[in-house]
Formats: sequence, C-alpha cells, structure tokens
Amino acid sequence: MTDRTFSIIKPDATRRNLTGKVNAMLEGAGLRIVAQKRIQMSQAQAEEFYGVHRERPFFGSLVAFMTSGPVVVQVLEGDDAVARNREVMGATNPADAAEGTIRKEVAESIEANSVHGSDSAENAAIEIAFFFSDDEIVG
Ligand code: CMP
Repeated sequence: MTDRTFSIIKPDATRRNLTGKVNAMLEGAGLRIVAQKRIQMSQAQAEEFYGVHRERPFFGSLVAFMTSGPVVVQVLEGDDAVARNREVMGATNPADAAEGTIRKEVAESIEANSVHGSDSAENAAIEIAFFFSDDEIVG
C-alpha cells in the first residue's frame, strides 16, 4: 500500500552538506519526497516533537543537538513507507547499522545519527501534521 512517513535530515548532516546524498539514498530505496523544507527548529518545537523522550537522560542533549543548526523536514511516500524508510535509515546507533544504510554511511554517533524517521503509521501522521499543512504536500 502506498503510504507516507515523516523524515528529518538532522543538523550533523546539513552541516556536512549531505542533504543531497541522503535524499539520493531515500529515493534509491523507492521513496518519493512529496514535501520538504529546510528550517531552524526552535527549542520549544524540539521539546514538543521529542516529548516522548522527556524523561530520558539524553533529552536535554538531544534538544540542544536538534536546534544546533538547520534541519530538513520531509514527507516521504511509497509502498510501505514507514518500514521502507526505517530499513534504509538503519539502526539508531550507527555502530549497529547494516551496510548500505544511511546511518552506517553518514551518521557520526547515536545522537548525531543524521536522520529521523517515524516508527509507525500513527506517529507518521502526527509528525507530518506537526510540520506541514496539507497544501504543502504534493504527491
Ligand atoms: P531518533 O530516531 O530521532 O529518536 C530519538 C533520538 O534521540 C535518536 O534518533 C537519537 O538522535 C537521540 N539519542 C541520543 N542518545 C540516544 C540513546 N542513548 N538512545 C536512543 N536515542 C538517542
């Protein structure tokens, strides 16, 4: 089934000018970028977006990292988009990521791991709506 997921190219990747490389890997995995914008996330946005991790020890550092430079927020469309994106991203920790995945090829650390992707269709819908209005998504 064609569906959508939400993706972020994180500050470690935009800083190293890897937006195009990441996008090529997403497209190579069969995902279509149907919305995309480069933004500077505010502290309030990052805290709300990652609210589920509020009690985790890495929360403060994660918010600082995600606001340390521009990010590219995206809507990706494709067959089984959530799972397909998670596959091409690779494991959260690049040390555990499989060969050929984005995190294996470009991520710097478990925090500076270059990309975020929704973990379920339900969260994809919530995350897409957090950054995009319907008329910004052109499939
Ligand atoms: P992401 O998939 O965006 O979801 C939560 C983020 O927290 C994760 O990627 C990492 O960037 C960051 N993070 C930092 N430390 C950890 C950790 N120990 N475990 C999981 N995520 C971490």
